[in-house]
Formats: sequence, structure tokens, C-alpha cells
Amino acid sequence: MTTAQIEIYPDRPALVARSLELVQDRIQTAVAEHGRCAIALAGGSTPKPLYEGLAKLDLPWANLHIFWGDERYVPVDHPDSNAGMAKAAWLDHVAIPPTQIHIMPTHFEQPEAAASAHETLLKDVLGYQPTFDIVLLGMGDDGHTLSLFPHTEAVTVSDRLVTVGNKDGEPRITLTATVVNQSRCVMFLVSGSNKQPALKAVFSDDADDLEFPSRTIRPEGELWWLLDAAAGAAVKTL
Ligand code: 6PG
Repeated sequence: MTTAQIEIYPDRPALVARSLELVQDRIQTAVAEHGRCAIALAGGSTPKPLYEGLAKLDLPWANLHIFWGDERYVPVDHPDSNAGMAKAAWLDHVAIPPTQIHIMPTHFEQPEAAASAHETLLKDVLGYQPTFDIVLLGMGDDGHTLSLFPHTEAVTVSDRLVTVGNKDGEPRITLTATVVNQSRCVMFLVSGSNKQPALKAVFSDDADDLEFPSRTIRPEGELWWLLDAAAGAAVKTL
């Protein structure tokens, strides 16, 4: 892993503007270098304006493959769907071939079957050792990322690329840290003062990965932490 790049912006709009600049650049670089950009999207509220900004750009959409870092176990038209949010904010407004938008399946009776099916798709589309060009991540105030929640089994899964997360008994489909750590560029977008305690733990030397799962994200490629001032105050005092 290269050293983490930490940037703190005055507010969330400035954080989003920087993330738009970086994502646009990394998309163009990936397409120029190997003809395709595989990007995994985050859920939550922070990335939504980024997606809205991407919808206004003219990028090589035909060369993009869209994935998700995690998904709630609901249909895409459910208000909680991460895929539904990204489609409404961005993907339904640009010419990415529908066959290149790989929504995590949530129709299997057993979430485990959904995770297994999506892992097979990842390998079919990206190869046996899937490497994302870009992974966008958020972080919850409990230090979770993707659907790797504190003290859950999903945090420790290392022999699979996709597994079943668990949020208070609610199943989620999630990439594992293993596959995210194979990525070329991972960007955390974190806003809000409520994230300070978890950020302090993530950047500390001795906190527990199982308690703060965002610590498990140590990619082989670039790692960016884009923070607003409210969240970033935690890092300044380290
Ligand atoms: C989700 C995301 C989740 C989110 C964080 C931060 O499915 O909601 O996977 O990890 O990124 O909770 O959310 P905010 O961006 O809204 O702070």
C-alpha cells in the first residue's frame, strides 16, 4: 500500500468537489491504460452529490463497469437500496451499457447464495483475481465500512471476495476487505463530527480491526481519505 493521502476540506461540498476531480481523473487514467474502468460505489449520503456531479460530465461511459461495495438485502426500487440511489443520482442519466452495471443480487432466498453468485460474476467480468480501478467507501460513526460492521464475522472473512454482512440482524451483501485491498485506488469520503471517535481509532496504532473495520482497508494501490473539517478535526489532533 502506498501511504494514505489524507485531505481535509472546509465542508462537504468542497470534499465532494475534490472527490469528483479525483474520480474523473482515475476513470480517464484507467480507460487510457487498459481500456476499461471498474468502479465499486458506496452507499450512504456523502457520495450522493458526487454521483450527481458525475452525471453532468462527459466521460467514456461505454468503458465503465459499475459495481457496488455493499448492498442492503432489498430490491433496487426499495428506498434503502444503494444501487437505487446511484441509478437515480447518476447511472440512469448517462450511457453506461446496462450489461456493465452489476447490481448485487438480492432476490435469492438465502443471502449466502446471492453473495456466491456475485463472487462468480466478479471473476467472470474482472478475472480470477478481480482488481477494481476505483473503490469508493464511506465510514459509519461506528467505524464500519462497506457492510463490515464491528465484531461481525464478515470483517474476518479473507478467503472470499463477497460475503454476507450483518447489521443488527439485517443481512447485507458486501465485498470483503480482501478484494478491496487488491484495488488500484480506494477513496474514503467521510463527513460529519460524529465520525471523529471512529477516525481517531482508525488512525491510531493500537485500535482493534474487529472493533473498527475501516482499519482493515489497506489497499495495494492508492488510499485516499477525503474528510470535511467536522470529521477531519479528529485527525488534526493525532
Ligand atoms: C451504506 C454504506 C455505509 C455508509 C456509511 C457512511 O450502505 O450505508 O455502506 O457504510 O457509507 O454509513 O454513511 P454517510 O455517508 O451517510 O455518512
